[in-house]
Amino acid sequence: MALYALGDLHLSFQADKTMDIFGRVWRHHERKIEKYVNKIVKPEDTLVLTGDHSWGRKLEECREDLAFIQNLPGRKILLRGNHDMFWDAKKTKHLNEEYRDRLFFLQNNFAVYKDYALVGTKGFTFEGPFYLNRRGEIIGWDEEKEAHARKLVARETERLRDSFDQAEKAGFRKFIMFLHYPPTSILEETSPFTEIAKEYGAEAVVYSHCHGESRFGDSIRGDFQGIRYMLVSGDYLNFRPALVMK
Ligand SMILES: [Fe+2]
Repeated sequence: MALYALGDLHLSFQADKTMDIFGRVWRHHERKIEKYVNKIVKPEDTLVLTGDHSWGRKLEECREDLAFIQNLPGRKILLRGNHDMFWDAKKTKHLNEEYRDRLFFLQNNFAVYKDYALVGTKGFTFEGPFYLNRRGEIIGWDEEKEAHARKLVARETERLRDSFDQAEKAGFRKFIMFLHYPPTSILEETSPFTEIAKEYGAEAVVYSHCHGESRFGDSIRGDFQGIRYMLVSGDYLNFRPALVMK
């Protein structure tokens, strides 16, 4: 029994969208996902998919993508990504009812893996625009956008706390925390998300969203403040699910 994670599948079985323009790693990436997940994940394992599942905008435009995910081995837990327009956070209960025993949608709830609670939310990070000097150093940024980002971060931290609190109330003391966005923006060393991970004693924080060589180092990777931070973007892993724990 093992816990795996992989993010940003960006499937488009029904939407007219190709990822090939983003580099060779994305060529026929759905075939790679199928191949590697089937090779690595066993039926008794759990696979957390950390958001940006589908390019479809409405649920009906995502059915084939969700069916593809459903057909992968193991128990599948899905987190919301910024592109997952089909998933209104307030309607998570409906999705969980509809996909009961097939997919679990992690939002304002938690899942159980051994004696761990799997908690999570989309998160948010300020991504600019930044103003650079001639040397490419950041000397400023769009303050209006940054203020808006702070509001979104506040809303997401509330959702994350709700997930932790429900798990704590149910008696869980061990946590793995999932985010779609990286836990910190490139301006930050710590953030409300790293603080929450510390406060509740999460053992690992797993996130994705960062694409391309130049973005993989945007946030924390490896051990930080006694917590293991893992980037699991599909293209970072060449679509091989990462082992979170056995
Ligand atoms: Fe994303």
